[in-house]
Amino acid sequence: MVNKSPLLIALDFPTTAAALKFAQQLDSKTCRVKVGLELFTLGGPALVEALHKLGFEIFLDLKFHDIPNTVARACTSAADLGVWMMNVHALGGREMLLAAREAVDKFQTRPLLIAVSILTSLDQGDLYGMGLHGSLEENVLRLARLSKANYLDGLVCSPHELKAIRQALNMNYHFIEGPERQFALVTPGIRPEGSDTHDQKRIMTPKEAMDLGANYLVVGRPVTQADDPQAALQAIHDTLV
Ligand code: C5P
Repeated sequence: MVNKSPLLIALDFPTTAAALKFAQQLDSKTCRVKVGLELFTLGGPALVEALHKLGFEIFLDLKFHDIPNTVARACTSAADLGVWMMNVHALGGREMLLAAREAVDKFQTRPLLIAVSILTSLDQGDLYGMGLHGSLEENVLRLARLSKANYLDGLVCSPHELKAIRQALNMNYHFIEGPERQFALVTPGIRPEGSDTHDQKRIMTPKEAMDLGANYLVVGRPVTQADDPQAALQAIHDTLV
């Protein structure tokens, strides 16, 4: 069965045991899970395999950024694990993006390969410090164009950038799954109405983000810290219909 949920639940846990115990409380047909640097460094391929055995499709959020050859090899290793989505930094440049694309394209069932533009932890001062001229938004749009031009499958972005990216890339709102799939916009910073914002500063509700053209929503603590995670996840789905 094709998983039609836009929800990617961030498994931000300090141990693999805690992550797996939590994942067992979720119905794998109603979401996907995101494994980031902390958890993958702890659990590695064995954790990916354990989550696959539980039926989950996985977004491996390792944000590769290195010379093209190294990134291509890392992408091959990640695709070998059978993950559903993975990512690289758009700041790695054109050649690195193309090398990643080519590596992933060698797989018959290939993961979605998306790019990270500008980390939301960076501000304008950081960009100047790194020699990146123009506003934050100009930098994000430049990297969005670069990613799309080099055949990536999508971009991680703030919900507040969704509208500008859709306009800049001339994208319509109709999202296509399958081999003809369209550039996907994946956004964290999501908080259901009335829930704790934690350390997120610029949030949006799931419905607002989807209405602005997000294709996938990364949600962590509103589900991972809920007393009943599956009910919290279902409550988010209910706001989207
Ligand atoms: O708990 P919360 O919903 O804030 O978790 C959001 C997830 O998305 C975390 O795994 C966080 O690292 C990730 N993320 C983010 N902002 C970004 C990129 C990733 O919150 N710009």
